Amino acid sequence: MSDLKQRLKNKTAAIGIVGLGYVGLPLAVAFSEAGFKVLGFDMQQKRVNSVNKGQPYIADIDSESLSAVVVNNLLQATTDQSRFKELDVICICVPTPLTRTREPDLSYVTSQSEELSRYLQPGQLIVLESTTYPGTTREVVLPILERSGLKGGQDFYLAYSPERVDPGNKKYRIKNTPKIVGGIDPQSTRLAELLYRQVADMVVPLSSPEVAEMTKVFENVFRSVNIALVNELAQLCEKMGISVWEVIDAASSKPFGYMPFYPGPGIGGHCIPLDPYYLASKARQ
Ligand SMILES: NC(=O)c1ccc[n+]([C@@H]2O[C@H](COP(=O)([O-])OP(=O)(O)OC[C@H]3O[C@@H](n4cnc5c(N)ncnc54)[C@H](O)[C@@H]3O)[C@@H](O)[C@H]2O)c1
Repeated sequence: MSDLKQRLKNKTAAIGIVGLGYVGLPLAVAFSEAGFKVLGFDMQQKRVNSVNKGQPYIADIDSESLSAVVVNNLLQATTDQSRFKELDVICICVPTPLTRTREPDLSYVTSQSEELSRYLQPGQLIVLESTTYPGTTREVVLPILERSGLKGGQDFYLAYSPERVDPGNKKYRIKNTPKIVGGIDPQSTRLAELLYRQVADMVVPLSSPEVAEMTKVFENVFRSVNIALVNELAQLCEKMGISVWEVIDAASSKPFGYMPFYPGPGIGGHCIPLDPYYLASKARQ
């Protein structure tokens, strides 16, 4: 552990980011900008080529920032997962969609974990960032990684730290959005905390991955419920000839017990509308 701690502190740790989408690409750029050598993995060759050419494909990353880290040899992308062996830290940012029957589809997480278990090295820190239901890190990811013959918390470290990125938000970025971390044991939590302190101003350590997983789904369910509520209120106000905007402004004058949500064309995206099903599915169990 002390080796990795040292490498994180002096920024010589090699960091891998799996899944270079809305979550993974900004994270890869953030670690590179902090001075780490980052290897990004994506199954889409097109995305890998774009990263290596310094050409971003998501709005939150501009071409100057991406080109700068690529040209300076801090960020490189590949589809070759055998290169997991070269890394000290691996953050998993793969999709967590729903099945046709609206059950959690963890196939990306499980296949990724299987791939990782083939190349897992003693001393590595693995962090799951994908949004998921409480229990995934310990009940699903850990047993798959342990097929490597290595033991979690002893031979390798494992934590959950959800990404809280808000695509398009210019005010809150990785640096000024507090990051929560929960490891399967105290050492995993400490290492994950140290990792994210390199790119985020505030890191909040939690007692377990389950608390971190539940916190993330709770935050997204909170948004989903309140967006649905204000959209229904907007329809009612329209029928009653009341300005919903004036109502929201008026309610916002209350300094406690209320926070404003604004009506819009729906919830959208591939997180907020899906994540409540992750919690509901676990609740049914
Ligand atoms: N988009 C957001 O605003 C947001 C915010 C917070 C959390 N999340 C969560 O983060 C996770 C990732 O979301 P996203 O928005 O970045 O998704 P995305 O679809 O933008 O990106 C995922 C990337 O992973 C790649 N991928 C899939 N399987 C892979 C594998 N086995 N190996 C390598 N690459 C693989 C895909 O090709 C894609 O490029 C999800 O769990 C999501 O719920 C998303």
